[in-house]
Amino acid sequence: MIRLYEKLCDYGKQDIYPFHMPGHKRNPELMSSWFPFQMDITEITDFDDLHDPADIILEAQNAAARLYGVKEAFYSVNGSTAAILSSVSASVSKGGRILIARNCHRSVYNAACIRNLECGYLYPGIYERCGINGGIRPEDVKQALRDFPGTEAVVITSPTYDGIVSDIRSIADIIHDYGAVLIVDAAHGAHFAFGSVFPEPAEKLGADLVITSIHKTLPSPTQTALLLSCTGRVSREKIRRFLSLYETSSPSYVLMAAMDFCAAEIERRGKEMFRCYEERLLSFRKEFSKCRRFTLLEPRKDVSCGIWDFDRSKLLISTERTSLGGPELHRILHDRFRIECEMAAPDYVLALSSVGDTSEGFGRLLDAMLILDMEEQKKGHGRSLPDKRNLLLPAPVTAMPVGDAEEAETEELLLSDSVGKISGEYAFLYPPGIPLIVPGETVQDEFVRLIPEYQRQGLNLKGFRDREFKKIRVIKEAGE
Ligand SMILES: Cc1ncc(COP(=O)(O)O)c(C=O)c1O
Repeated sequence: MIRLYEKLCDYGKQDIYPFHMPGHKRNPELMSSWFPFQMDITEITDFDDLHDPADIILEAQNAAARLYGVKEAFYSVNGSTAAILSSVSASVSKGGRILIARNCHRSVYNAACIRNLECGYLYPGIYERCGINGGIRPEDVKQALRDFPGTEAVVITSPTYDGIVSDIRSIADIIHDYGAVLIVDAAHGAHFAFGSVFPEPAEKLGADLVITSIHKTLPSPTQTALLLSCTGRVSREKIRRFLSLYETSSPSYVLMAAMDFCAAEIERRGKEMFRCYEERLLSFRKEFSKCRRFTLLEPRKDVSCGIWDFDRSKLLISTERTSLGGPELHRILHDRFRIECEMAAPDYVLALSSVGDTSEGFGRLLDAMLILDMEEQKKGHGRSLPDKRNLLLPAPVTAMPVGDAEEAETEELLLSDSVGKISGEYAFLYPPGIPLIVPGETVQDEFVRLIPEYQRQGLNLKGFRDREFKKIRVIKEAGE
């Protein structure tokens, strides 16, 4: 059997171009060629301590804060995941109330579980073209704050995985009027601050805490992330305490050095790096428009579904007018053209570009798409598409906090027998990437009716222990 390290070494030698995370794209010119073992130390003399930074690590964090123009920046070597757990915990009292955009990352739900929070939900609009999540509408935030008094914090994801950006400024103003704080999960938007064609970053628009995975879209290794404290509304002592609680007690100096190197490089030559990247990106987008069957989507501002802006680094390749589905295009790009994309959905493929991409990389993807487009034109007809999706989502009814439900004893029932019971599991729908049910919510008729409908539409369901989604784990009732 091949060992993990052997497989990775072999993979690194193959000529497969990465249109996926991490943002350094394995490009040695951006990362320099370090030998990380020489940097892999612990808290030895003169090297400070991430859990109580006072010297060189504090300076590195301050450099990151200056780069992003915020009051304070905190390193996370456990990704945005630890930064989100810490942000939520520092902003909401134990057992308190939080409003969560329903399409938030699992770590937000996990924070609610750990701190036994009462959750209210905000639903993003839907961008119909490929069924992805739109943004969060400011008026929905206002209404939700009225309906859920005592809310201490609101968490939204902007940009989403697919690049959709919400109207952060208006949302922040509304939330502050209610005396709550706004946490923006900008895990996929670490690059916004440095380009001219990207949306304005949340840290400049009134968000209180912004979390960003620099490993996702900047030249920095996996697990590196920043928690940006922008307004001082959330206590720095609490942020530090919770980061210490959720992060490893042996933070990797290799990862911290990489974050510092990334910040230093952007300070030194970021303008030029991003100018070249944006030129390559815009030229790719322009040339792609020669395709007659494949389309590179660029959602426009549409306040009716909460879309304020779009991150053009995300390459959403729609297969709608072709004979191929997203997963087939994903496979063809890999097998025939040696290109690995980030994700495939039924009607599109998501390729992530970053400042680490080379002209050769963009060129390879463009040539592949032009060839495939020619082939599609010769084929004549596209595939017969399912009826335009009418993506119905069941409205949740919360019976108990997610934290209590995750602790409770469960049993497995046929889905058809589970109406009225309390779910002990999550069910996620991809796309748009949203939980249909969260532990602690009551199973409703509509949920049971919609599951086979989603399956018929070719959408991915995940989360249940039973992968066929015929059985569900529910909370055992007393006396059973
Ligand atoms: C929207 C969003 N937030 C947070 C995270 C967690 O980020 P990390 O992998 O840096 O822990 C992810 C991970 O993919 C994500 O997509």
